[in-house]
Amino acid sequence: MNKTYKIAVLPGDGIGPEVTEAAFAVADAAGARFGFTLEKTAYAIGGAAIDAQGTPLHETVLEACKQADAVFLGAVGGPKWDHLEGAMRPESGLLALRKGLGVYANLRPVRIPEGLAEYSPLKPELLTDVDLMVVRELTGGLYFARPKGPWPTPEGRRSAVDTLRYDEDEIARIAHTAFALAGQRRGKLTSVDKANVLASSRLWRDVVNEIAAEYPQVQLEHMLVDNCAMQLVRRPAQFDVILTENMFGDILSDEAAMLTGSIGMLPSASTGERGGLFEPVHGSAPDIAGKGIANPCAAILSVALMLRLALQQPEAADAIDAAVAAVIKAGHRCADLAAANQTNLSTLEMTNKITEVLG
Ligand code: IPM
Ligand code: MG
Repeated sequence: MNKTYKIAVLPGDGIGPEVTEAAFAVADAAGARFGFTLEKTAYAIGGAAIDAQGTPLHETVLEACKQADAVFLGAVGGPKWDHLEGAMRPESGLLALRKGLGVYANLRPVRIPEGLAEYSPLKPELLTDVDLMVVRELTGGLYFARPKGPWPTPEGRRSAVDTLRYDEDEIARIAHTAFALAGQRRGKLTSVDKANVLASSRLWRDVVNEIAAEYPQVQLEHMLVDNCAMQLVRRPAQFDVILTENMFGDILSDEAAMLTGSIGMLPSASTGERGGLFEPVHGSAPDIAGKGIANPCAAILSVALMLRLALQQPEAADAIDAAVAAVIKAGHRCADLAAANQTNLSTLEMTNKITEVLG
């Protein structure tokens, strides 16, 4: 029987709507081939929601997302809303969505598709065998803990505070996610912290060490975050799964993205208590928004992650991954990756190539 899934679609701002449309053109093609239907409902988030509803994430939208089998998001933010403060910023809508859905585990896989090694700023020989996964804690730490905000000094000087707090349960649940993933991959886990300076990192390390006893088949190492930033460009193939807290993960995952030559290739999945939130790692790219030239691959690969992790359609996910790989291997490129002597495909042309291969 044809299965139907309810998907909340949040295209957002900038190139978000363009790449979201591309992703679902491919997802629907996969549905036709593998016998499932995606029942999509679109909602506003970020700047688009500020304009339409006066808030970056309306409570009815969060409620609808909680009811869906999975949530897909394009991108949020843009110069139009840059003057706004705190909770009124487009990014706050995304943070409230992650927190509201309870998706504490953000998975950012980094692989170098065949044919792209020469686009990386690193020497191609460093990229052989790069296949890593950043597991970023997504609903705690500096992004969320209180107190937060302006904090004037007694003398009335301007001052501000953010709090880096983790409790042991928050660390334990994300550690379990990372150990389990490492067990299904090459069995190596690098937990990244700043335990030589931060108390929260020392707790992180203790809890990760305790949980390690439950996963004897996984080899655990600890690495300081500054060293990890260096090792990612020195010898990236040494990593299998990298586990880290929210802000370190934000920074390291952008660095890791550049191994592939373009952040336009990187998908992400956020999972936790229910369903899941799937979004490309790239932002809203206001400079190219509306031109129809954005690389849709990151969004298309994110939809593949959605099919694999939230909707239990692994064959459709594999087929999409393979179609993207084949189109890249055949030399097709959007503007972010095209060489000077190469024809750039538009978002739509790239999407059509991928759906053609998908059959
Ligand atoms: C990301 C982004 C977001 C983050 C922004 C848009 C709030 O950089 O998903 O990596 O910092 O988490
Ligand atoms: Mg980021």
